[in-house]
Amino acid sequence: MTRTTVTGGRLIMAAAASVFALAAYAGPDEDELVVNDEIEMVTKTDAPAHLDGLDTIYSGWRFRSDETQAVQTDDFDNPAMLWVEQAGEVWKTAEGSEGKSCASCHNDVDSMAGVRAVYPKWNEAAGEVRTIEMQINDCRENRMGAEPWKYAGGDMTNMSALLASVSRGMPVNVAIDGPAQSTWEKGKEIYYTRYGQLELSCANCHEDNWGNMIRADHLSQGQINGFPTYRLKNTKLNAVHSRFKGCIRDTRAHTFSPGSPEFVALELYVASRGNGLSVEGPSVRN
Ligand code: HEC
Ligand code: HEC
Repeated sequence: MTRTTVTGGRLIMAAAASVFALAAYAGPDEDELVVNDEIEMVTKTDAPAHLDGLDTIYSGWRFRSDETQAVQTDDFDNPAMLWVEQAGEVWKTAEGSEGKSCASCHNDVDSMAGVRAVYPKWNEAAGEVRTIEMQINDCRENRMGAEPWKYAGGDMTNMSALLASVSRGMPVNVAIDGPAQSTWEKGKEIYYTRYGQLELSCANCHEDNWGNMIRADHLSQGQINGFPTYRLKNTKLNAVHSRFKGCIRDTRAHTFSPGSPEFVALELYVASRGNGLSVEGPSVRN
């Protein structure tokens, strides 16, 4: 090992140490999540076989305060359900040159039960891995003759929350082999790459330090089974890629854009780390 490498390593450790200086292990807690006294969520289960860094996987819900957790247990309390209702209206509203609504082709939104659980997913005809947002915009542009929605904008995130809501309680089960494998590997590489002045990777926080307190926040495993999430902090629905962007920005790095190939690959990889947890979206977080 050369001298410069050693110095570089020390710098990385110094930056990381300052972030974790006050770290104290605090959880996950052992409460179970049941929504509307009806949907029993799997918030803790064995890690999928491909995942070496964790034995047990936990939903982010397990790391929130009792008060925040409670908001997610009943749809009347969960503010996200207002946007889900709005999206339910949009679902039935015709738009674009073909005069069609989502319902014209897909009938009742319950026909989408199970779809959220398997996205991102390889699309054979397009020859690409698609997030649910990409698929929605494909339907808007190519089947409805309508304008695409902004990738992580309000209309899109509301629709994505509606689609998640009808899959709640079903196990996340994204495919990582076959034609999706190279995208998955690209996502994995990004997950373990150190970014920014702090030189921290996703794994440094969400695999090596989950359960610890970091800057007064209880660090989870960074799972995405709860997305979109209503955050008490910004009182709106937040898309997966917006959260990725925020986390990378917190390392003081320039970040990828929502909908970029890098974030699509990262989403597939992060989703696969949660295979076996229940679809929880729209969830509630701080
Ligand atoms: C400096 C530490 C740090 C790094 C690096 C980091 N995060 Fe986070 N992340 C956090 C904190 C703090 C939170 C909020 C508490 C929590 O849910 O863990 C969070 C939350 C999340 C959540 C929301 C979890 C939920 O249940 O709502 C996801 C998803 C996430 N991070 C993914 C990532 C990904 C992917 C990367 C790499 C691109 C990353 N994070 C890098 C600190 C970090
Ligand atoms: C003109 C008919 C049509 C309309 C209108 C339409 N879709 Fe689709 N949609 C399809 C077809 C066909 C597929 C299968 C396409 C494929 O696999 O490439 C599909 C697939 C999907 C899927 C993926 C399903 C799966 O099992 O993987 C989602 C999600 C979806 N549409 C959402 C929507 C939403 C939301 C709207 C309204 C904004 C909409 N669609 C409007 C025809 C339509």
